Amino acid sequence: MKRKNHNDDINRRRFLQIGATFAASAIFLPLSANKGFGALPSYQADNSIPSLKLNNGIEMPMLGFGTNTLNGPTCVRCVSDAISVGYRLIDTANIYGNEEFVGEGIKQSGIKREKLFITSKLWVDDYGYESTKKAFETSLNKLGIEYLDLYLIHRPRGDVKGSWKAMEELYKEGKIRAIGVSNFEPEQLDDLMADAKIKPALNQIETHVFFQQHNSYKALKKYEIQMEAWSPFAAGRNGIFTNQILADIGKKYNKSIAQVCLRWHYQRGIVAIPRSSQKAHMIENLDIFDFELSKTDMKTIAKLDLNITQFPEWE
Ligand SMILES: NC(=O)c1ccc[n+]([C@@H]2O[C@H](COP(=O)([O-])OP(=O)(O)OC[C@H]3O[C@@H](n4cnc5c(N)ncnc54)[C@H](OP(=O)(O)O)[C@@H]3O)[C@@H](O)[C@H]2O)c1
Repeated sequence: MKRKNHNDDINRRRFLQIGATFAASAIFLPLSANKGFGALPSYQADNSIPSLKLNNGIEMPMLGFGTNTLNGPTCVRCVSDAISVGYRLIDTANIYGNEEFVGEGIKQSGIKREKLFITSKLWVDDYGYESTKKAFETSLNKLGIEYLDLYLIHRPRGDVKGSWKAMEELYKEGKIRAIGVSNFEPEQLDDLMADAKIKPALNQIETHVFFQQHNSYKALKKYEIQMEAWSPFAAGRNGIFTNQILADIGKKYNKSIAQVCLRWHYQRGIVAIPRSSQKAHMIENLDIFDFELSKTDMKTIAKLDLNITQFPEWE
């Protein structure tokens, strides 16, 4: 019951926000300008994972499955397992070198394409107008699918604007249901949006209890751009899975540290894409919709913020 109320709240808020955005920002294309969009089947939510609406009106699950570092037969098995236990949002990227294996896992799951929400990302080497179009087709071919639900510019470097123009066209042609970015700071979004015809639907950034991204959180809310957390467990760094504060909070609800972390993301309205190679963990990570962290617990978790990346090697 609580889950439904929370989700309804998010949807209501989003509805009001989207209305306000379209009233306020005439520079971006209205939905009707996207001629190709109607040609694609919509994502059909069919299970217990709540969804939200992106700023172009399409529905997206609030919890998904990450695939970075999964490769070969392990990746095939993990993606197929993840879908079998209920995940519908699958996150991959050209640079992970696993799109074929993700595609094979999807195929082996036997699920209908329209039940899934598939994200991939354009890598830096392919930035620029022409290269983006080619890279997009390569990703589709590797994944063995006809369209992407979400395509992201992986990092804010190089000819981002040339890539964005190509992505806007692919979107208008109906080959992608939503376009967005990853690892963009608010100022980099400002710069992109200064010339964009279509506003990014989403920004995927490092977010976890040790790096809570308050600045981006506020800016993305203001822009009506959905925030998505990569490494929602900080990939296990900084002792997250043995953190006593998170363990004590979990005990109150009979939940694990992983579940507390994912519930915290969900209550902030952030989409999270945890990765796991173990089916038991995949199941555990989905089981977060039957409890609610109290305001006090949310405040306690807020104090864990170190406001610094846990992945300095990627800076
Ligand atoms: N856009 C970007 O630049 C970017 C960068 C990094 C990541 N990403 C995306 O974000 C996804 C998630 O991030 P991530 O892969 O870095 O790491 P993560 O999801 O933060 O953490 C993964 C680690 O947590 C462990 N784990 C998962 N569930 C657990 C549970 N219930 N209990 C204990 N341990 C658990 C996994 O081990 P087991 O396998 O043993 O379960 C694995 O070692 C990536 O896979 C990728 O799709 C995007």
